[in-house]
Amino acid sequence: MIVPSDLARAIVDPTAYSDGRAEAAFTRLRREAPLAQVRSESHNPFWAVTRHADIMEVERRSEDFCSSHLAVTLTSQEARRRAEQAARPMPRTLVSLDGAEHRALRQLTQGWFMPQNLRKLEARLRELARASVDKMAALGGECDFARDISLFYPLRVIMEILGVPEADEPLMLKLTQELFGGEDKDLNRSGSEVDSAEALNGILDAVMEFVGYFNTLIDDRRKNPRDDLGSVIANSVVDGQPLGFSEVVGYYLITATAGHDTTSNTTATGLWALAERPKLLAELKADPSLIPAHVDESIRWASSVQHFMRAATADVELAGQQIAKGDWLMLCYTSGNRDEAVFERPFEYDIRRPSKHIAFGYGPHVCLGQHLAKMEMRIFWEELLPRLESLELAGTPVRSSATFVGGPKHVPVRYRMN
Ligand code: HEM
Repeated sequence: MIVPSDLARAIVDPTAYSDGRAEAAFTRLRREAPLAQVRSESHNPFWAVTRHADIMEVERRSEDFCSSHLAVTLTSQEARRRAEQAARPMPRTLVSLDGAEHRALRQLTQGWFMPQNLRKLEARLRELARASVDKMAALGGECDFARDISLFYPLRVIMEILGVPEADEPLMLKLTQELFGGEDKDLNRSGSEVDSAEALNGILDAVMEFVGYFNTLIDDRRKNPRDDLGSVIANSVVDGQPLGFSEVVGYYLITATAGHDTTSNTTATGLWALAERPKLLAELKADPSLIPAHVDESIRWASSVQHFMRAATADVELAGQQIAKGDWLMLCYTSGNRDEAVFERPFEYDIRRPSKHIAFGYGPHVCLGQHLAKMEMRIFWEELLPRLESLELAGTPVRSSATFVGGPKHVPVRYRMN
């Protein structure tokens, strides 16, 4: 089955993720063609996997559907051609590894990311959250929450656990934004059109700048290990051998990037939801034990990682369809998180629904930072809500144009704080 061309265009077009066209396309596909091939002029064909159950099945069958062939995110033919031409080596990261190699690398930090270990960060995260809330109060009753507040708190958290000093944060912010904002003219390095040589070069330059920066940091953590994640990674040993430079840099890179925009976008989405729902805001203020449920629903609602790609390792069957060896598949998390078969009234923001979202993925690659993300956001709301006396939108929020990691880039709000 082939996805109708108007829907196919929406799925590959970053701007369609900012104006609701991608969401509308997914809603139709779940009903009419939940596993179908997307053909477009710009991209190699791929299967759009839009149902919650099928996404989980692909993730579970990681031997049939791997991460190490083709690209792990949607890449146009033009971008691929340019990347091949540029021939710049990219560091290898967890998301593009499979099997034993992936397990070994993931295991190095799995314990660090577990709730028991993260507990030691609670007090420090609270200080950072409180500083963000103070900043919001100091802005005097109006701000662009996405740009002024939620962008910075998760960044500070992630940089602190990696050991990046605060003074270098502006550089890190610029680089993570350029990496993920490559598809958005407002956010990318060159201010240029998607798929242009400038946009791609901007992304490659950002990666190279990261590599250069982390090189120095890794060196320091090897010589002077501290009690942070950066030191754990820099001093890791696999099969008796220190981790290779490319793997260490890849680990820093994936942690720095995966831990930032995702959580910023989700926090901004959560605030947007509250600005439109005064009754819910009052409920959360009255009963802070509801905060974890608000966090969870904001994660489903935002689905800030909008997809990851997989490739079939053999001719296999999936949901009654034949998938050929080498076929490319898009796991449409945003779609899975609105699947009517799993979520009652999926287009309502309801903190009382059972937590079944797949915004963190599933299976061997399930988000390594999920407990950190949830903890960070819980603490933020615990600090903000008691001080927030009123909240409303002061303009129309704007979502970023991105097929991969997306969310609100502007959430103008008006508020009173104590
Ligand atoms: C709301 C915030 C977040 C969301 C929605 C999110 C979502 C995801 C998703 C969908 C994946 C891929 C899962 C799969 O393929 O099954 C992933 C992987 C990953 N995430 Fe997150 N993430 C968030 C926050 C974080 C944070 C705070 C960190 C850490 C610092 C982090 C680190 C990672 C890493 C390292 C991976 C790769 C895991 C692997 O391939 O084994 N994420 N995340």
